[in-house]
Order: sequence, then C-alpha cells, then structure tokens
Amino acid sequence: MAGDGIGPEVAVAGTKTLAAVAALSGHRFTFSEQLIGGAAIDATGEPLPQDTIASCSESDAVILGAVGGPKWTDPNAAVRPEQGILALRAALQVFANIRPVQIFPELADASPLKNELLDGVDLVVIRELTGGIYFGEKMRDEHSASDLCIYHDYEVERIVRFAARLAAERRGNLCSVDKANVLESSRLWRDVTTRLMSAEFPGVNLEHMLVDAASMYLIRRPATFDVIVTENMFGDILTDEASMLAGSMGMLPSASLGDSGAGLYEPIHGSAPDIAGQGIANPCGMIASIAMLLRHSLNLEEEADAVEKAIQTVIADGARTADIATGDMTPLNTEQMTDRIIAALPA
Ligand code: IPM
Ligand code: MG
Repeated sequence: MAGDGIGPEVAVAGTKTLAAVAALSGHRFTFSEQLIGGAAIDATGEPLPQDTIASCSESDAVILGAVGGPKWTDPNAAVRPEQGILALRAALQVFANIRPVQIFPELADASPLKNELLDGVDLVVIRELTGGIYFGEKMRDEHSASDLCIYHDYEVERIVRFAARLAAERRGNLCSVDKANVLESSRLWRDVTTRLMSAEFPGVNLEHMLVDAASMYLIRRPATFDVIVTENMFGDILTDEASMLAGSMGMLPSASLGDSGAGLYEPIHGSAPDIAGQGIANPCGMIASIAMLLRHSLNLEEEADAVEKAIQTVIADGARTADIATGDMTPLNTEQMTDRIIAALPA
C-alpha cells in the first residue's frame, strides 16, 4: 500500500528491493497493490476499503508507505487518512510495534545531538499498537471532548512478554515506560509488568521509568537503553524523539506483529507533504523495513541480513539522500539511493 505523499515513492523502493532479493536468492514474491489513506478516500470515500483489508488478510506481509497530507487535514472531516492506518492495525491485530533505533556512525553529524552522546546507541522500542488512548471511546460535544485510555491486563501481558523475549536475546535489560505517578492505566501497566517479569523472566533486568524522565534520558544518555516497552501514545511520541539519534526519521524502519497472520512493515516517517512528488525522499527506512519483513514474516534471516548490510555499505561509502547529507556532499535522489543499495546486495 503506497498511500500518500512520499509513500508511493518509498513503497517503490521497497518492492524493487524485494524483487532484487528474489532475483538473487531464487525466491518468488507475489504482490498485490491496495488503497489506503487519502488515496483511498479520494477513490472510494473510505480510508481503508474492504478490498484492502481482504487482500492484507490473505497476504504473508503488508508494506505501507505513509498516509496523510494537507488535502485531508480538516480535523472535523468525517473521514481522515490516519483512520485507515489505525483500522488496519486493529484488523490485522498487530499489537507489537518494533521500532529499532540503529545508529550509523557515519551519520553522527546528521544528528542534532553531540557525537559523543551517540556512541554505542543500540536500542529498540516496543510500542503497544492496538490499545490505549488511540482506541478508547471518544466523546465530543460543543464545549468538551474526551479520549479514554484503557488497558486490559492481557494487553499488557502480551506486549511485555514480547519485549522481554527480545531483551533476553539482546543485552538483558527491559525498561518499561509509564506515567504511574498520575495515570490509573499506568499503575495497572506497572503492576502487571512487575508480576509477569518476576514470574516469567527472572533473568531479564526490569526497570520502570516515568515517561517524562524517559524523554529526557533518551537525549541525556541514549546508549544506556536496551529494550523499551511502552503503551501506544508514549511509544508514538518517544520514537519520533529517538529517531533524531539516527540523524533522520527517514532512516528508521518498523515492524508490527500479532500472534499470527500478516506482519505490517512501514518506515516510521510520515507522508512528508513538503517534499512529496520531488523524488528525493530517503528510502532507507522503507528498505530497512523490508529487511524486517524478510526476517519476521518470511523467516529469511540471511536475506534480511544482506539487505541491512547493503544499507550499511552504501552509507559507509558516502551515499546520502538530502535529509542526511552534510557538508558538501551531493545528495542522491530516492531512485539513485535505492539502486545503490540494491547494487550492494551480495550476488
Ligand atoms: C506513527 C504515526 C501514526 C500513529 C499516525 C499516522 C496515526 O504517527 O505510526 O507513529 O500515531 O501511530
Ligand atoms: Mg508517530
């Protein structure tokens, strides 16, 4: 699903990479293109048409560019592009959103942070994706409005379990981020997390952190984080912040998984209307998402590693799109960058 803005431009980079992987490895991937977001509203009146849901459910994996744009920003409109993405997450029941923050040492100058703070940064945010304030009951009348933030224990258990398994494979540290000093839903989150971790993951080091402090420590000492697990909205906000460690939102991938069924893969950046149509978007976040797709949905670990290595190689060689170019580097456009990465895949 290409979606809106730069979505179609980076989606092409994704399918082109998969086609290249297929050619090199002898696999065959079959694609179906579907509408979502503003493009779907324009064509059908709905942000997530039934045909799209049906096709996603039949697929092994779903690739999404981005949704939204100035054309559909009226906050009072009955349908908005973002509803498409939320409905898709709910339909696929992809409750676990994996957002790794990988640092390329060569891009340290593209980050607004001091270089020495970035040394050794290697963290993953596990964001709960199908609950909380995003999906609670909404109310609006003339003078007031509310959004309910509700979590059930089973929702906390499954996301914390998912994050703890990952932490156990990594450096063994799990940081659970909440606002337990104020929110009842966070107090439930903290209690359930504490109980589950001591019962099932005694070997994983658990730390609880308030979200305001976490937002500070992500800048102050980002290298100390291993796996962060948090609820939907805190995860949304903290991952935009964390993307600045990597130099550009355009670099970062994401995967959204459920207990079974199709995984959903999208770069964490949005539709970037300011540069849409110019062909200059950074395809790295999408191509890194393709690596996650190969790994998590298709079980093609070797191919996934190869795609990640190809991105590293071209970055080390000095290939840059405009968002990560520094000094007097001449930026490549989306297609050139994609082709460079594909050319760096092992034959
Ligand atoms: C994200 C985006 C979405 C979110 C929007 C487009 C609804 O910001 O994936 O982080 O808030 O989840
Ligand atoms: Mg976001």
